[in-house]
Amino acid sequence: MTSIVVFASGVGSNFRAICEAIREKKLAARVEALVCNLPGAGAPSVAKEFGIRCFEIPERTPDRKWLRAEHEGLILGALSEIRFDWIVLAGYMRLLSSGFVKRFTDAERGCARIVNIHPSLLPAFSGVAGYAQALHYGAKVTGVTVHLVGDGLDDGPIVAQRAIEIRDDDTIETLMERGLAVEHGLYVETLGKLFAGAWRIEGAEHARRPRIVFGAEVARG
Ligand code: GAR
Repeated sequence: MTSIVVFASGVGSNFRAICEAIREKKLAARVEALVCNLPGAGAPSVAKEFGIRCFEIPERTPDRKWLRAEHEGLILGALSEIRFDWIVLAGYMRLLSSGFVKRFTDAERGCARIVNIHPSLLPAFSGVAGYAQALHYGAKVTGVTVHLVGDGLDDGPIVAQRAIEIRDDDTIETLMERGLAVEHGLYVETLGKLFAGAWRIEGAEHARRPRIVFGAEVARG
């Protein structure tokens, strides 16, 4: 059984989808803890509902914002007694330092055991508010990307992508609603495949951005 720690900053709908999929036995995993960096986020109440340990580690005090390394030190301290296989980012809105990412790098695979979902077809519309960016840009199609976390913003090998058509009458709210529904399905499905382990990284030598290739026949190259 794969053990995971989920990091979230927001409403927690992806976190909820993961917890429900586990409860319904659609995803073979166990959530050991939630880490939440924003006071007032919805994710901790989801953790409470599912009986999951929650570490609320705000990235700022009333007086100052923790430096990235300081904040990550607090997170690592909280997680030091927990054993887990993967960190799953579910709407975690603070960039992780390369030192943090390196700490969770699987030497055999050559990539970190940290996975993220982003609301666009990367490399388009990285950063914050992916759906709003696509709508304001005038794009006709956007989508969702699941990727392993690399060194830079929304960087790292692509694991899965799914397109979403932008309708002429879409608002940010309608696009986001459809997008989140796609995210929930794609994330659960993709995490299941990742945790099953039959995948490898392809294109690391020549592609601008490597990707994950699934299938028993390509397990461990
Ligand atoms: C989701 O749309 C997720 O893709 C996005 O934040 C939202 C969190 O929603 N993540 C990013 O933008 C990461 N760069 P949720 O709290 O309801 O899961």
